[in-house]
Amino acid sequence: MAKPAPGMRDRTRMTPEGATPFREVMQQRLARRGVLAGAALLLALPRSVIAAGACASPAPYGAALSFRPVPIGGEDKVVVAEGHRASVLLRWGDPLFEGVPGLDVATLADPRSSELLNSVAAGALQARRFGYNCDYNAYFPLPGHGSESPDHGLLATNHEYTGDDLMFAGFPAYRRFFKDAARAQAEVRALIERTKGEIVRVQQAAHGASVVEIRRRGGRWSVERSGSCNRRITASTPMAITGPAAGHPLLRTEADPSGRRVLGMLANCGGGKTPWGTMLTGEENVDAYFANYGRLLERVTQEPALAPVAAAHARLPLPAGQSNRAWELVDARFDAARHPSEALRFGWCVEIDPYDPLSVPRKLTALGRFKHEGANTTVAKTGQVAVYSGDDAEFEYLYKFVSAGRYDPAIGRANGRLLEDGTLYAARFDADGRGRWLPLVFGQGPLVPPEFAGQGDVVIKARRAADLLGATPMDRPEDIEVNPRSGRVYAAMTKSAKRLGKGRFAAQGRMVADGADAANPREGGNANGQIVEIAEDGGDAAAESFAWDIFILCGNPASPEGRLLTAAEDLAPPLGRADSYFAGYGDAARISPLGAPDNIAFDRGGNLWIATDGQGGGARGLNLGRAVNDGLFAVATEGAERGRTMQFLSGPVGCEIAGPEFTPDDSTLFLAIQHPGQGGTLGPASAPKPGSDWPDGNDLPPRPSVLAVTRARGKGPVGRG
Ligand code: FEO
Ligand code: CA
Ligand code: CA
Ligand code: CA
Repeated sequence: MAKPAPGMRDRTRMTPEGATPFREVMQQRLARRGVLAGAALLLALPRSVIAAGACASPAPYGAALSFRPVPIGGEDKVVVAEGHRASVLLRWGDPLFEGVPGLDVATLADPRSSELLNSVAAGALQARRFGYNCDYNAYFPLPGHGSESPDHGLLATNHEYTGDDLMFAGFPAYRRFFKDAARAQAEVRALIERTKGEIVRVQQAAHGASVVEIRRRGGRWSVERSGSCNRRITASTPMAITGPAAGHPLLRTEADPSGRRVLGMLANCGGGKTPWGTMLTGEENVDAYFANYGRLLERVTQEPALAPVAAAHARLPLPAGQSNRAWELVDARFDAARHPSEALRFGWCVEIDPYDPLSVPRKLTALGRFKHEGANTTVAKTGQVAVYSGDDAEFEYLYKFVSAGRYDPAIGRANGRLLEDGTLYAARFDADGRGRWLPLVFGQGPLVPPEFAGQGDVVIKARRAADLLGATPMDRPEDIEVNPRSGRVYAAMTKSAKRLGKGRFAAQGRMVADGADAANPREGGNANGQIVEIAEDGGDAAAESFAWDIFILCGNPASPEGRLLTAAEDLAPPLGRADSYFAGYGDAARISPLGAPDNIAFDRGGNLWIATDGQGGGARGLNLGRAVNDGLFAVATEGAERGRTMQFLSGPVGCEIAGPEFTPDDSTLFLAIQHPGQGGTLGPASAPKPGSDWPDGNDLPPRPSVLAVTRARGKGPVGRG
């Protein structure tokens, strides 16, 4: 284990006073940690754990990271580690089909000229162009270039939401919905009226996902607009509802009395790929799209038959009145008072077959309804398929689905049926470093009538079921990934402004204790987040128990306000908001400050790549005394450099970095630059400007875009030599 840097000793002192009551449980826990933590981890793990990754692959170029870290960024540009090139591959508004014109962003800032506000075809055109706020990326090889096809494939990207104040001149800035809601809502209504609803059609078409054929020639990636698999999926694309809640009375609507067919997907955030070559994408903040929950509750007093559907919303509450985008004024299904079940048909994980543009995307109710983030699949030793997913809200849970059936490589994409039947679990993290996957199974424990009448009720009300089972409320679970070399599982908790340690907090429709615990050890607000490392018992992804540890407690290792912790026993809660820990690595000068981990990915060398969303935060975050842009980081998970976190790329102003995705040979890293310029608006002149004109420059409105990052010269793995 590396020694603390000179001058760091005062900040590496042991357990704080507040941890004394935990001493006994911590001692048990640290006995486990002796196994999980430490630089020699891989050697210490049982062989079964090391071999667990079903997709374990060789690291043909060597595993070690070998780039020089970039400084933390504050300028409006992309900065990538020396020896690499970051090229823009796809921007919001780029055409995905031949004959479709690209968006003319130069028109957008003026309401009289904006093509989005003045064309009756604006929505139809957006449905043929790359959508807004690219988030998760999945690369699918196309045949004909060797079995791995690292130079020709399909890129499937989801579009989480529309940044309306950077798309439509006159759309109120987001913060005004908090400060002056009535006026902001009136301005939205005026835009809808002026455009005869076309603004809503643009927004709906800018959501969903894109599937695009891409090819690398002469070292450069480009889009094939004639690609036969090219496809846009939007908020209106017909989808099937599968699994235990398909056809459930709570999912039936006037438009779909079967409860098995829904239009569109919303708020698609992190995702994952399946071993049979499909994309999984999680619907996250779906509540924001629905309106008038208050009026629904009023209706219940007159119509008691509506009580069950109103109650089903209790743990994923909807806006009481008008929604910010006010789709309900144009498309009545978004009015919860009139169509109370429609919102329950969102908040699922969706499977998309990128190779078949006519395939019907499938909502997978067996994986539970919550704010899905990430959906990463691995094949367990038993042959069952496990899918890990986070629920991104303060004090929500980590989940795992394990299929009843076994993966059969011979049947290809028909394996998708595995995701319709299995066991959904929520995680409980115990203070002794052990954990349990708690099964959300109807008829077991508290999951019985009258609250639950079957497994359909359990998955629709998954959060409530996990409450009753005693799952551990976490600091906003984001992406969760399996290390292909070790089989260990890594889960990012992005941050939590609500982990205050003051008593109890109202969160997502219920009250929870807001004190620190072993897995969420910071109190006084967790501005920087943490990454949890899980070793499934027996190295089996189908196991119902596991060992766990904190891998990284993110932060600024040189912060004068906190300590760089270097030993596992230092992690006893409650920790201060500026304390940090990098798997025991102790040389602060060689660690890049890191906050708010969100999407993560592994290269074939078993190195963890971490994209951030909202790092910085001044005194409450990295405490660097200035605005800090989000970035991409890489860290070794084994060997002497385990825990040494290095910044690889810095994004432009206002963006988050999302969707890191490697080609099969690691020679290209795709990356989403989401919401550049967030915090500004297109106008009027008195409002703050975006602060970013990336990627087009020349003061043009910023555009969310996908980057292709490669070596600047020659071909080789990104970030390592
Ligand atoms: Fe859309 Fe959890 O970030
Ligand atoms: Ca995310
Ligand atoms: Ca990921
Ligand atoms: Ca996030």
